[in-house]
Amino acid sequence: MGGEEQQRRRLAVALAAVLLLGTFELSEGEFNGDYSKLSGIIIPGFASTQLRAWSILDCPYSPLDFNPLDLVWLDTTKLLSAVNCWLKCMLLDPYNQTDHPECKSRPDSGLSAITELDPGYITGPLSSVWKEWVKWCIEFGIEANAIIAVPYDWRLPPSLLEERDLYFHKLKLTFETALKLRGGPSVVFAHSLGNHVFRYFLEWLKLEIAPKQYIQWLDEHIYAYFAVGAPLLGAIETVKAALSGNTFGLPVSEGTARLMFNSFGSSLWMMPFSKYCRADGKYLKHFSGGIRKDHHTYQCEQEEFHSNYSGWPTNIINIEIPSIRGFDAYPSVSEFAETNLSSMECGLPTQLSFSAREVSDGTFFKAIEDYDSDSKRILYQLKKWVQFLMYDVVFHQKLILRVLSSILPHKIMWSCRKVVRHGTITCSGMCFNAIFFRSYHDDPVLNPFTPWDRPPIKNVFCIYGIDSKTEVGYYFAPSGKPYPDNWIITDVIYEIEGSLISRSGNQVEGNPGPASGDETVPYHSLSWCKNWLGQRVNITRAPQSEHDGSDVQVELNVEHHYEQDIVPNMTRSPRVKYITYYEDSESIPGQRTAVWELDKANHRNIVRSPVLMRELWLQIWHDIHLDTKSNFVTKAKRGPLRNEDCYWDYGKARCAWPEYCEYRYVFGDVHLGQSCRLRNSSADTLLHYV
Ligand SMILES: *[C@@H]1O[C@H](CO)[C@@H](O)[C@H](O)[C@H]1NC(C)=O
Ligand SMILES: *[C@@H]1O[C@H](CO)[C@@H](O)[C@H](O)[C@H]1NC(C)=O
Ligand SMILES: *[C@@H]1O[C@H](CO)[C@@H](O)[C@H](O)[C@H]1NC(C)=O
Ligand SMILES: *[C@@H]1O[C@H](CO)[C@@H](O)[C@H](O)[C@H]1NC(C)=O
Ligand SMILES: *[C@@H]1O[C@H](CO)[C@@H](O)[C@H](O)[C@H]1NC(C)=O
Ligand SMILES: *[C@@H]1O[C@H](CO)[C@@H](O)[C@H](O)[C@H]1NC(C)=O
Repeated sequence: MGGEEQQRRRLAVALAAVLLLGTFELSEGEFNGDYSKLSGIIIPGFASTQLRAWSILDCPYSPLDFNPLDLVWLDTTKLLSAVNCWLKCMLLDPYNQTDHPECKSRPDSGLSAITELDPGYITGPLSSVWKEWVKWCIEFGIEANAIIAVPYDWRLPPSLLEERDLYFHKLKLTFETALKLRGGPSVVFAHSLGNHVFRYFLEWLKLEIAPKQYIQWLDEHIYAYFAVGAPLLGAIETVKAALSGNTFGLPVSEGTARLMFNSFGSSLWMMPFSKYCRADGKYLKHFSGGIRKDHHTYQCEQEEFHSNYSGWPTNIINIEIPSIRGFDAYPSVSEFAETNLSSMECGLPTQLSFSAREVSDGTFFKAIEDYDSDSKRILYQLKKWVQFLMYDVVFHQKLILRVLSSILPHKIMWSCRKVVRHGTITCSGMCFNAIFFRSYHDDPVLNPFTPWDRPPIKNVFCIYGIDSKTEVGYYFAPSGKPYPDNWIITDVIYEIEGSLISRSGNQVEGNPGPASGDETVPYHSLSWCKNWLGQRVNITRAPQSEHDGSDVQVELNVEHHYEQDIVPNMTRSPRVKYITYYEDSESIPGQRTAVWELDKANHRNIVRSPVLMRELWLQIWHDIHLDTKSNFVTKAKRGPLRNEDCYWDYGKARCAWPEYCEYRYVFGDVHLGQSCRLRNSSADTLLHYV
């Protein structure tokens, strides 16, 4: 213990000495590389912030009540003993996102809000997220106030984050406070949904400050952005969560999970969408089936209609519905109204498939708004509307007709409610959610169903895991049970290392990418950020573990075409986990872009991965150092950086990495590996990587 303490103190002193001396030259020149001036700002992912009760709620039949500041997310004891009570504190009103009248919850603040969710109860990814990360920061001598977490209520859609909590205002102030307090810019670390939050912040900021000062503000306040596990084109699991529930390992039923998920406005933020469709009108000249309303446009390139599956590996949803005669043809509205209900008969079930675009474009709601003035267009959009409706309301033709006739006087909410009350068949989450589709597509700040171009930040690092088995498509069928259990998944399509397989063993058609995703987000979505790289890219592939550099492959200045994946022509030994770096420091003067792909890194665990920590650390270390010659940290070799990285080599009967590690017994060591310790302080070791 004492040795470790001493070691740490020595390290901190050494770091301080090196860093205070260091000056770092940037083209802009305002940040002089003093590492003690940098702040780290962490934006956590979905469900990774603690929520606490802001109410007093008496839970009948349970000894556990909710008192102010009690943990709601995530207190599994309460969840298990009083689930209905717990749900009152968790659920939001699906229409307007207000709290339950009897219980409200609010996000906790500070680092502790994101480091541990439920100490001790659930072992696994949900229970501790950023704790390991913070431990590294402390080990490398980062000061306490240099790491700032910006937790948020992950149940809310972005517009309400600002409206209810002034979240983006606070985030702006956080950057400004960090600059004032420490004298330097911040490094942003965002994980999963946190990347969408950060993107929204950048767009919001553009409207908040004078346009001329926007880039200047970014340069002054943000030195680098590390996008970790970003679902840039959405995540397919969102669809599963919306239709049949995804419990995230919680001890609740899928139906409860679905109810909960669908009450959160944020649930649609991660819906998969097509990279060929944009809201900014960039593709106006290839007009093809977009719709226009005031200044909001959502348009697709020709590519969308020529390629299959919106560019994804396969159709995201395949759903079984009873076919209805006369339905497929989409007759005009008047024909619908005149159709005699009993003349429509149920046929054999048919299967309908939906691509990412069809999942995310809620354009039919605009149709309803526009109906009075433009009846031709509503028919076109009604078609889309019907598709949406089908997600849940499909298997009862009378109901479809009832709903169809009730949309005409734009009363969607009413019709959904009416159907629910009617009780014949379920209406559902999709109807609720559809309201939010409208709010996303009409969001004045950002329509998130638009692929993200490289943010104008000096240094952008996009980091994700690849080659795990990841869900890319689902087959749903009606289960015959009421909402929320009315859909069952009959089959799942997975991508794995460049091929598609199905759970049932059926043959799968599709376009698998060169790699697969990180178990939660498909590769297609994660790898979108490769488009942030320029036309020439340097690629390096190295083993993830400590290595001496003999197995490092490099390809310099590989040509890269926009919207095409870059796949290195490099070998892989099946037993080695690699990290592949794509780097570009040329295409935008003074700015750098890099993409790191970590083999087999899992979406939820990646922020705890020692390999990621090491690489982040070395890159930041490299950037702040005095004598840097290269644009990015060298990949030539990786030796142990911390005492934990030293281990006993049984074959050679000595500590591995003898030039870095030595055998140094300290009282209390239990096994040989523990006594292998760094020869020099980490600071000395780090000098090898400048
Ligand atoms: C939100 O909806 C609930 C029920 O749907 C209603 O009671 C409440 O007044 C609404 N709140 C606002 C602010 O509209
Ligand atoms: C789309 O799918 C059809 C039928 O499966 C196939 O014939 C066609 O080649 C595919 N097109 C593309 C661009 O993959
Ligand atoms: C619908 O058809 C049935 C028999 O086919 C008939 O009895 C009924 O009057 C019709 N209803 C309308 C509204 O046309
Ligand atoms: C890939 O590399 C191998 C040897 O390193 C070479 O023979 C082959 O032509 C390369 N393929 C491409 C497409 O560049
Ligand atoms: C690739 O690496 C070389 C050598 O380090 C460097 O000169 C070049 O600028 C790099 N290319 C890009 C696109 O960053
Ligand atoms: C450790 O420190 C000594 C003396 O400062 C130096 O000669 C040696 O190269 C260092 N070794 C490593 C691996 O940094």
